[in-house]
Amino acid sequence: MKPYYVSTPIFYVNAAPHIGHLYTSVIADVLVRYSRLRHPDRPVFLNTGTDEHGLKIQQAAEAAGENPMQFCDRISERFKELGRAASIGSSRFTRTTNIDHKMSAQYFWDLLERSGAVYKGQHSGWYSISDECFYTDAQVETITGQTNVKVATETGSIVEWTTEENYKFRLSLYREPLLEWLNGNKLSVYPPTRRDELILQLSNPENFKDISISRPRSRLQWGIPVPRDKQQVIYVWLEALVNYLTAVGHPWTDGRNDGKGWPTDVHVIGKDILRFHAVLLPAFLLAIGYELPSTILAHAHWTVNRQKMSKSRGNVTNPFSVLQLYGVDPIRYYMMSVAGNFHDDSNWSEEQIVNHYNRDLRGVLGNLVSRITSPGLTSLLNSLASEEGHSVTSYALLDKNLPEDAIIKRMLEEAPSKFEQHFSQFEIGKALEIPMGLVNEANRHFIHLRWWEHKDSPDIIRRSHFYTHEALRIASILLQPFMPTKSQEVLAALCAGCNQWRSTVLGASGVPAKSKHTAPYSTLFPPIKLN
Ligand code: ME8
Ligand code: MG
Repeated sequence: MKPYYVSTPIFYVNAAPHIGHLYTSVIADVLVRYSRLRHPDRPVFLNTGTDEHGLKIQQAAEAAGENPMQFCDRISERFKELGRAASIGSSRFTRTTNIDHKMSAQYFWDLLERSGAVYKGQHSGWYSISDECFYTDAQVETITGQTNVKVATETGSIVEWTTEENYKFRLSLYREPLLEWLNGNKLSVYPPTRRDELILQLSNPENFKDISISRPRSRLQWGIPVPRDKQQVIYVWLEALVNYLTAVGHPWTDGRNDGKGWPTDVHVIGKDILRFHAVLLPAFLLAIGYELPSTILAHAHWTVNRQKMSKSRGNVTNPFSVLQLYGVDPIRYYMMSVAGNFHDDSNWSEEQIVNHYNRDLRGVLGNLVSRITSPGLTSLLNSLASEEGHSVTSYALLDKNLPEDAIIKRMLEEAPSKFEQHFSQFEIGKALEIPMGLVNEANRHFIHLRWWEHKDSPDIIRRSHFYTHEALRIASILLQPFMPTKSQEVLAALCAGCNQWRSTVLGASGVPAKSKHTAPYSTLFPPIKLN
């Protein structure tokens, strides 16, 4: 079976990782963990890595007074560490300075040349080192007050007029097939509004000028040489996009990839690099006859103090320190609950992290855990069980169909299919609301039954325990992609080996007549200590 192949961008090593990089990686990891949960027999492949060539990196290394390779080794290691620190289960970490990538990129170049879509010519335009791309006159503007400084309108990056001899790619040849691909596949680009924007852009041929795909070696030394032309280096974006193929063993020896992974199921990226992924990459692939990816998921951005994060503003948030301070699962939870719809920008706020933690994790999930382990309920339940000697009570309870249990029962029954439905549409934030909604309703139901006022009613004692147990169990199974550690802790305390998708059926593993209250509960979501 072809692996479910998900990728993150490969990140530039010009600066240390920030929360944006963490966020993209968490989304990719959630998708992969969901696939493993839902389709346990299907292999998964998650590629991440670092983008290490180009002028931007060359200059950053110079500024740091290091040779470029050493510099790349050092920063790339920070990105690896981030993956480990955030429970990102990547299958491969691709570095563009690896020898297999050089071979892959040069082979890809050969295929492009053979396709007839490449020619040599003079290229002029406004180059941005920060964005590593050319802009046209229409895409740049003069900064007010500074007549000599121009910036790219879209990104605000400084640009320089550049004229050089290089290889070019006939992008315009692929406008029609690209439009067909976008129009014909509803999930080719997600969210739908970004797909609409792109289709609109594509309908204007002005946006389809030929692009430069190499740079003169005199300008750029830190890159992969163009085959058979020592004067030229492969354009860093072309090379970087090929990493997704390198990761799954390109070049494929017999010209076929034989289900090893290609094409990608989901490229998770930020909206800043959508054009590179949804126009350039598919155009290159079309040119050489490779299959196109299934989905490009372009998420919105995190702002800090409602502003774009940037080194010059000094508002770049360090992901390592927030993971350390609030814990891995709470940060993953925060990111997916606040920014799980991918369309709108979200503002990063530590106050909000603490609020979410206290309200949802401690207040809703932690609370239900402490309810099921309350010594009062536990001892009543256990004495009932020893009097009557029953081992499992769940089926009898379900058959009762009491009106008071109707809502929680229906929610428990519908949760897995709703969850699945959301995931199939990339509505990850909404998917997360399903288990959290279950736990919330279970709390309400528990309070509504008021077992402490009905200590002589075996029925109420059992229902209080049963529905709480099942809500926690099913919710925790569904929470595994989001909070891999905390969900496992709850499941381990509830039942052995019941963390599989098939166990999401209400009453599936039998609810024990006896209950024990176990230690992990008290340490599940401890109060946050801020110093
Ligand atoms: O663009 N909010 O690398 P990069 C959310 N090397 N996500 C953010 C973000 C923010 N404020 N800022 C960055 C590159 N990201 C190229 C990619 S791929 C073949 C080459 C995330 O280090 C988001 O995923 O600038 C964005 O697309 C990516 O980091 C850009 O990372
Ligand atoms: Mg960037």
